Amino acid sequence: MLIWVIHGPNLNMLGTREPGIYGASTLADINQGLIALGEHEGARVETFQSNHEGAIVDHIQQARKAGVGFIVINPAAFTHTSVAIRDALSAVDLPFIETHLSNVHARESFRHHSYFSDKAVAVIAGFGADGYRYALMHAIAQLRKQSQHS
Ligand code: DQA
Repeated sequence: MLIWVIHGPNLNMLGTREPGIYGASTLADINQGLIALGEHEGARVETFQSNHEGAIVDHIQQARKAGVGFIVINPAAFTHTSVAIRDALSAVDLPFIETHLSNVHARESFRHHSYFSDKAVAVIAGFGADGYRYALMHAIAQLRKQSQHS
């Protein structure tokens, strides 16, 4: 059971970046917590962050070959701009959960549109770093169900 967690631009700045909006946890804290949760639940979690759209596309393109069953992605600002990352997710045809730390719908109107939500299994926004944990637990539950039925 392999799950990829992908973080978009500026999320490497978590901890110091607008903590009132994004919280005090660093990306390393979040990733370590997710890897530990995965281990506890019998799933392998691998994390990736990039500030570059093409690097995220390249990474997603490798997902099937890597044996990924589910993707948790916070596309960050690319949520609102990136047809390329949307297309990469469609190309690999893997289920994904779109996750945001903040409640994007309670913020500026340009954050209300997502290029991902209509393709996502689910969308999580506003739970801070816990949102990733909820997404991961759902991904694990789905993969468990799949393996029981196959
Ligand atoms: C974000 C929300 C985006 O609008 C923003 O550009 C981000 C982070 C979030 O996690 O709340 O960088 O995806």
